[in-house]
Amino acid sequence: MSTKPWHDHSRFTLGHWPTPLEPLRRLSEELGGPTIWVKRDDCTGLAIGGNKTRKLEYLLGAALAAGADTVMTFGAVQSNHARQTAAACAKAGLQCHLVLSKQVTSSDPAYETGGNVLLGKLLGAHQHLVDPEQISDYTKHLRTQLHDAGKQTYLIPAGGSNAVGALGYALCAEELQQQSQQHGINLTKVIHASSSAGTQAGLVFGFQQLSLPVDVLGINVYHSDPAQLEQRVRELLQEMSDSYNGAPSSDPQKVYVNHAYIGDGYGQPTIECLDAIKMAAGLEGLLFDPVYSGKALAATIDQITVGAFSGVSDVVLIHTGGTPALNVYSQAFS
Ligand SMILES: Cc1ncc(COP(=O)(O)O)c(C=O)c1O
Repeated sequence: MSTKPWHDHSRFTLGHWPTPLEPLRRLSEELGGPTIWVKRDDCTGLAIGGNKTRKLEYLLGAALAAGADTVMTFGAVQSNHARQTAAACAKAGLQCHLVLSKQVTSSDPAYETGGNVLLGKLLGAHQHLVDPEQISDYTKHLRTQLHDAGKQTYLIPAGGSNAVGALGYALCAEELQQQSQQHGINLTKVIHASSSAGTQAGLVFGFQQLSLPVDVLGINVYHSDPAQLEQRVRELLQEMSDSYNGAPSSDPQKVYVNHAYIGDGYGQPTIECLDAIKMAAGLEGLLFDPVYSGKALAATIDQITVGAFSGVSDVVLIHTGGTPALNVYSQAFS
């Protein structure tokens, strides 16, 4: 196999690879459509798993190569990316600062103390809960403090989504290619929850580099204006093309963003998402979360139900993780 950009980049191993690719037989039968295959990135092996493990292998590789002893990153209060970064830093022996913005209104008393916040604390991260309008000033102040303390700080953007982090999902595209061959899957459609765009850009870049005609459908779970997500995916694709091999950037038609499943916005579960979570739990013994993967699951179920995949034999749903947040959404299920 020829060398690809994601083979060459320094990487700090954090996960168990490849993650399994499994059929959801009972759910697929219930829906009467194509076979749904779930890529189990909720089982990456790092502190309850999730899609950030892939990105963090490359990002920590870069941080360590740069001589960093401290990492700072950003997210919402219940950020899975923050929890995974805390775990990755613990494993690499780096100090970790998480700047968490209070951007979701929740009446659940555990929202600011349970779920990922509890896990981040257990993983030894310094957690800074900040109002969204104060993020910029707070970050500047914290950077100065760390600098004055002699720390070499490496900044990871929200969601780990830059050209380096997104390489993790280009590698995932290659894993999917190999697993599809093993299972005899017709790999043409991939669906996943999309927010900071690194997962989607990495997959599109990877499939493009492998010359595989696969449609990657990003289910917008974050942006009130889906055009922002599409633009961010395109920018990341361009950054990846510029950084690695000067490969051609994506065909403009090939970035698919769906906005139909976001409901009232980021962190606000929809009825369809809650129903989808219960359905997968009951039929497959598989847990999804109400912020990210559950909305992608709801989208998959709905798209199959309305016949959007007629003539397609297999659909791959990437389970990007997020289940630790289930515990702070108990009221939504009551
Ligand atoms: C569980 C989960 N799924 C999906 C996503 C979206 O991935 P990306 O930010 O790469 O678009 C995230 C991002 O935080 C996440 O935590």
